[in-house]
Amino acid sequence: MSQPPYVIDELISAKTIAARIEALASEIKARFADTDKLVVVGLLRGSFVFIADLVRELDLPVEVDFLEVSSYGDGMESTREVRILKDLRGDIAGRDVLVVEDIIDTGHTLASVVKFLQARGPRRLETIALLDKPSRREVAAPASWIGFEIPDEFVVGYGIDYAQRNRNLPYIGSVRFTG
Ligand code: IMP
Ligand code: MG
Repeated sequence: MSQPPYVIDELISAKTIAARIEALASEIKARFADTDKLVVVGLLRGSFVFIADLVRELDLPVEVDFLEVSSYGDGMESTREVRILKDLRGDIAGRDVLVVEDIIDTGHTLASVVKFLQARGPRRLETIALLDKPSRREVAAPASWIGFEIPDEFVVGYGIDYAQRNRNLPYIGSVRFTG
């Protein structure tokens, strides 16, 4: 499927993201200071850059695992139905878990994932999202940490795609159609 012509305007620079992650990591380290059982769970695919930078700021014993859930396809609207496409490799029962999401929009993805993972009996489950669009929320999606609140714009970069493109941009930009 091809997309109408667009340009990308920088919204959050790579430097600003890095500084925010450093601050978030020190709060996360403090919260999990008492555990030797932290499993950091990245939601594929959008969180892959964020989780890579985040775990390298956490000098804690961590394991990294991934969960893939269905999302937008190639469009810009949420289907509001979340399916598990790839499950975790490891068992999280009794473990401390940090779920890492790229962006909270309607809230359906994170809310469903939290419910799904809570059913497996982790000792503690916290959530972090790099970006949050609070104006779009349809269901409560409790995030323990948020990197940045952003306006209702479609964003790309730093792992986040539009029709599978632009994940490799080092910054967060917003998509502006020119056609
Ligand atoms: P939610 O279920 O509506 O909260 O949507 C969350 C998911 O939708 C995120 O994990 C992203 O994959 C995707 N998403 C939401 N907003 C954007 C955006 O602005 N750009 C790209 N993907 C987005
Ligand atoms: Mg996602």
